[in-house]
Amino acid sequence: MRSVILEEHGSIEQLKVSTTSQNNLLKEDEIRVRVKYCALNHLDLWLRRGGTGDKLSLPRVPGSDIAGLIVDKGSAVGHLNVGEAVLIYPGLGCGYCKACLGGRESQCHEFKVVGYNIDGGYSEFITVNMKQVVEIPEDNLEKWAAVPISYITAWNALVTKSKLNANDTLVIWGATGGLGFAAASIAQGIGAKVIGIVGSEEKAEFLNHYGFSGEIVVRSDSVVKDIRNLTANEGVDVVLDHVGKQTWSKSLKMLKTGGRLAFCGVTTGPKTETDLRYIFGKQLTITGSWMGNQSDFIEVVEFLKMRLNLLPYIYQVLNLEDVGEAHSLMERGDHVGKILLKI
Ligand SMILES: NC(=O)c1ccc[n+]([C@@H]2O[C@H](COP(=O)([O-])OP(=O)(O)OC[C@H]3O[C@@H](n4cnc5c(N)ncnc54)[C@H](OP(=O)(O)O)[C@@H]3O)[C@@H](O)[C@H]2O)c1
Ligand SMILES: [Zn+2]
Repeated sequence: MRSVILEEHGSIEQLKVSTTSQNNLLKEDEIRVRVKYCALNHLDLWLRRGGTGDKLSLPRVPGSDIAGLIVDKGSAVGHLNVGEAVLIYPGLGCGYCKACLGGRESQCHEFKVVGYNIDGGYSEFITVNMKQVVEIPEDNLEKWAAVPISYITAWNALVTKSKLNANDTLVIWGATGGLGFAAASIAQGIGAKVIGIVGSEEKAEFLNHYGFSGEIVVRSDSVVKDIRNLTANEGVDVVLDHVGKQTWSKSLKMLKTGGRLAFCGVTTGPKTETDLRYIFGKQLTITGSWMGNQSDFIEVVEFLKMRLNLLPYIYQVLNLEDVGEAHSLMERGDHVGKILLKI
C-alpha cells in the first residue's frame, strides 16, 4: 500500500510516498479502513518539524483526520459492515486506567493521537480498534474527513469544559482556520453570539460570504478595544485561544468578570508573561484541552449529522503525492478552512 512515511523530522522534503506490504492479519476487535480522505491539521506540521516537547517516535505515518470505507473486520465486530463509510476517533487510551474507564481518554497517561503518536491516514489503508469508529453518511465524505481533530477539540473546549450556551458571547481567534472555523460553526449551532477575529480583510470577506452571522474583527493593535466596543465595554463570556504567545494577554483582557478562557494551542509560541491580577481580579476560569474524549467525538458527530450546514469548509483537495504542497499551503497560512489529501 502507498503511504507517506516520515523517517526524520525536518523540512517538507522529509514527506515521501513509499510502497509497503500490508499486514493482512486483523485482531478480532479491529477493522481495516480504505482511507478516502485525510485532512491536514497544524499538528501535522508540529510532527514533521519535531521538537514539540512531546515524546515522538519515528518512522511515523502522519494524518489524524480520516474518513473511509470498511474493507475488512475482525471476528468480534458485529455492529459494522464491510462497505460502510466511517469516521475515526483519532485517539487511543490504554483502556483500563481511571481516566479511560471514566470516559476521559485524553487524560490517560498513555493517550496516543493517531497520526502523531501512532500511524495515521496519509496512507491507502489504516487498521483501528472498532471502538474508535463511527458510521457516517457516504455523502460529503470529504467534509466529514475534516471534522475530527478540529471539531472534537472545539467541542471539548467550548461545550464540555466552558459550558458554552446561547446567552454567551464568544471570541474566537483565527476564526477561518481549521480549529477556529469548527469553533465558530459549533457556537453558531448552539446559538451563542460569536465574534470572530481574523488576520485579513479577505478572511473577513470569506466569513461573510460563507454565511457567518456573527461580528468580525480584523486583528490590529486595537483588537482588545474593538472587542470592548462591541460589548458595551463589558468584555466577553468566553475566549477560544489557540494562538498562544501573541494572544494570551489580550485574551485575558477581553474577558468579562467571571469569564472563561478555553485554551488549546501555541501557534505563535509557548512562553509569555502574564499579569496575574486579571485571573483573580476578574475571577476567570482557564481550561486546557488536548483534543477531546470519545464522548466529545460522538456528541459532535451527532450534532453535525443534524446540522450538515455546519460541516467544515474545504479549501483545497490534493493527491497523496502532493503532500509537500499541502504542508506548504498550511505553513503559508493564507488558507481558510481545511486542506485535504485525497487518497
Ligand atoms: N489542543 C489541541 O488538541 C489542538 C487541536 C487542534 C489544533 N490545535 C492547535 O491550534 C492551532 C490552530 O490549529 P489549526 O489546525 O486550526 O491551524 P490553521 O488552520 O493553520 O489555523 C491557524 C490559525 O492561527 C491564526 N493565527 C496565526 N498567527 C496568528 C497571530 N499572530 N494572531 C492571531 N491569530 C493567528 C490564523 O488566523 P488569522 O491569520 O486569520 O488571524 C489561523 O486561522 C495550532 O497551534 C494547533 O496545534 C490544538
Ligand atoms: Zn488509560
